[in-house]
Amino acid sequence: MSKTLIRGAKVLGGEALDVLVDGETVAAVGAGLDADGARVVEAEGQILLPGLVDLHTHLREPGREDSETVLTGTRAAASGGYTAVHAMANTFPVADTAGVVEQVWRLGRESGYCDVQPVGAVTVGLEGKQLAELGAMHDSAASVRVFSDDGKCVDDAVIMRRALEYVKAFDGVIAQHAQEPRLTEGAQMNEGTVSAELGLGGWPAVAEESIIARDVLLAAHVGSRVHICHLSTAGSVEIVRWAKSKGWNVTAEVTPHHLLLTDELVRSYDPVYKVNPPLRTEADVTALREALADGTIDCVATDHAPHPHEDKDCEWGAAAMGMVGLETALSVVQHTMVETGLLDWAGVADRMSFRPAAIGRLAGHGRPVSAGEPANLVLVDPSYRGAVDSARFASRSRNTPYQGRELPGRVTHTFLRGRATVMDGELV
Ligand code: DOR
Ligand code: ZN
Repeated sequence: MSKTLIRGAKVLGGEALDVLVDGETVAAVGAGLDADGARVVEAEGQILLPGLVDLHTHLREPGREDSETVLTGTRAAASGGYTAVHAMANTFPVADTAGVVEQVWRLGRESGYCDVQPVGAVTVGLEGKQLAELGAMHDSAASVRVFSDDGKCVDDAVIMRRALEYVKAFDGVIAQHAQEPRLTEGAQMNEGTVSAELGLGGWPAVAEESIIARDVLLAAHVGSRVHICHLSTAGSVEIVRWAKSKGWNVTAEVTPHHLLLTDELVRSYDPVYKVNPPLRTEADVTALREALADGTIDCVATDHAPHPHEDKDCEWGAAAMGMVGLETALSVVQHTMVETGLLDWAGVADRMSFRPAAIGRLAGHGRPVSAGEPANLVLVDPSYRGAVDSARFASRSRNTPYQGRELPGRVTHTFLRGRATVMDGELV
C-alpha cells in the first residue's frame, strides 16, 4: 500500500496540518505526522481542498470526439483539480438510454483520471416531446440521478412536471437549462444596449427567468427537486432566493465565466465569447457573485463546452456556443470570489465540492478532509500568477476566453482515491 504525506498544507484554507494518505484513504490529519515509509509532498503555503466536483461538463463522447473524449476531458478535469464530473447528455447518440449512459460510465472508469457520473437526458433525443427511460438509466450500472436536456430547455410544462414526478421515486433531480425557446429565436447575445448597438439578435433575461419561475413553482407543486443550470441574470437570482425562502427544493449553479465576463466583450465579435446562456451585464455579474457568496447559488459548475477551432474560428453568427472551463475554473473563482473577499477557501470547498456532490448524491466525493474518508484531494498554490496558455491544456479543445490573461492560483496536485493524477502541476 502506497503512502503519501502531504506536509504543512492549509486544510480548507485554515490551519497548516499534515495529511497522511494510506492507499485510497485519508489515514490521519494532524500536526507533525510521521513520514515513515511515505512519499512526502511539501505543501507549505498551499491550500488543501476536497477534490472538486463538477455538475456540468460536456465530454462529447460518444459522437464528437473531435472536440473532446472522456479521456481528454477527464485529464482536463484532473488538471483543474476535479475528482468527479457529471457528463452532460447532449452527445451523439444522446445519452437517453441505459446503454449510452453505461458506455459513458465505463469509459470514465477506464480513464482513471476522474470519476465520471453520466447525466441522463430528460426527453428522447433532447426533443422535448417524450420522456426518456429515466428509471432504466437510474437502474443501470451508471446509477443516473441527475437528468438534463442541457443545451436545450425542457419547455413543455407537462413534460417537466412528469419528469419531476418520475425522479421523485429515487430522489433524482432535473437540471434545467432555462431558455424559453420562442423568446430566444435568432438570439445571438444578451439583449441590451450592446446588442442594440451591434445589431445582433437579443437574448432577453426574461427568457431565462420565466422558465425558472415556472419550474420552481412546478417543483414545489410536485414536491420534487429541481436544479437550475448556469444562472446568468440578477432576476434569476431573485427568483431562486424567493423559492428557497419558501423552503422549496431548489438548487442552482453559476459558471466561472458568468462570474467574470460581460457582454461588453462581444464588441470584439470574437466568437470565443459566444456562449449559452450569453454573457450578461456588470450588474448581473455582481448579483451572481453575491448570490454565490450568500449561498442562494449553491455551486460553481463549469459548463465546460469544448468545440473544435473550425466551429469557433468563424464569423459570430455561425459559431458554436460554449467555452472550455475545467482547467481555469478554480483560478477564476479565486480571482472573482476569494481575492474580492466574498468567499474564503472553506467557502470554495463548499461551492465547488461539498454542495455539487450533495446535489448529485455522489458517494465518496465532497467529503471532509478527515481520517477514514476517501483521499479525493486537491492542492492549490494560491500565490501563483501566470498567463493562461491554452496550448498547455489537456482538453482537446482550445476555446478559452482567458487565453493570455493573467489569473491567480495553480493546481499542483490532484489525488483520486489516493493516486496522484496531477503531481507538481503535471498530469501523471
Ligand atoms: O454554451 C453552451 N454550450 N451552452 C449549452 O447549454 C450547451 C453547451 C454545448 O453543449 O456546447
Ligand atoms: Zn446549458
